[in-house]
Amino acid sequence: MLEKLERTLKEAVESLKGITTEQDLHLWRSNNIGKKSVVTEAYAVLKDLSKEERPLVGKLANQVKQTLEKVYEEKKEELRKAALTESLQTEKLDVTLPGRAVQLGKLHPVTKTLRRIYKIFAEMGFQVYQTREVESDDYNFTFLNMPEHHPARDMWDTFYTKTEGVILRTHTSPGQVHAMREYHPEPIRVILPGMCYRYEQVNTRSEMQFNQVEGLAVGKDISFGDLKWVVSEFARRLFHPDVRTRFRASHFPFTEPSAEMDVECFVCNGKGCSVCKQTGWLEIMGCGMVHPNVLRYGGYDPEEFSGFAFGLGPERITMLLHRITDIRYFWRNDIRFLEQF
Ligand code: DAH
Repeated sequence: MLEKLERTLKEAVESLKGITTEQDLHLWRSNNIGKKSVVTEAYAVLKDLSKEERPLVGKLANQVKQTLEKVYEEKKEELRKAALTESLQTEKLDVTLPGRAVQLGKLHPVTKTLRRIYKIFAEMGFQVYQTREVESDDYNFTFLNMPEHHPARDMWDTFYTKTEGVILRTHTSPGQVHAMREYHPEPIRVILPGMCYRYEQVNTRSEMQFNQVEGLAVGKDISFGDLKWVVSEFARRLFHPDVRTRFRASHFPFTEPSAEMDVECFVCNGKGCSVCKQTGWLEIMGCGMVHPNVLRYGGYDPEEFSGFAFGLGPERITMLLHRITDIRYFWRNDIRFLEQF
């Protein structure tokens, strides 16, 4: 057995020299140190050997095994290095080339406008109150003083769902009633931002889907003067500290009286240009004093409480701020457009 071990060691070390692939190395290992190798055989026969022979064979078997393990590891490392050198030479990878820059994302231009709007109203004590985009017919119309079959409903082209009475909201005004029902009889000062939907012909000025920011203040002794100050101050903070505003009488079913607020065109300073269509004024929002019926639907007694409301379109405002000529750019996902902001 001793001789056999000696011979195995010599032959194994010799044959290892000729090995150049990982596969052959693997085979070599199983032949020389594996289950069917001479070393393993030597351990197996130990128990049958004589007392004198046993320690000698045991010791040699250990030595052979250790030596073979060691040369195996060395060879393995040698092959790994050779493979690396080879791949570096043949694959010609230039590791000194600079990497590709990671592209940073940006906020959507309308999101930026929304955040400016939130900030301005937050400074004036208005909280953000979010309400649902899927509404009931009651909240979108009836509670806003537009009973069933009322012709005023025609002002909003509506997406109806297959579930009766469930629609996509056409404006953020239904949120007024949600807020009032939650807070009454406490005073309220909130803005209600979010997506609205209209079944409309899409063109440069209207989309089927757009944001609105609604505002609502309810309390005792709230007057039209409060409304004028808040929305004019908002315009000054958003556009320009000296920007002039004007109010035109208008009509909305849920406010009485109702008005539309214009700001002096900040592109031409009121002289008249293409942005303001030569009028010198830009229409910014609808507003008015909350109609007594709406207050009642919200749980407030109109004899005791009053309030104002307004609604504006962040896309339109973004278009004015950046002189964007087509509202459809916003949801087209064209990076060339979005990257500019
Ligand atoms: N909801 C109106 C619309 O979508 C906008 C509006 C007008 C909101 C007057 C108001 C308001 O709160 O007082 O056209």
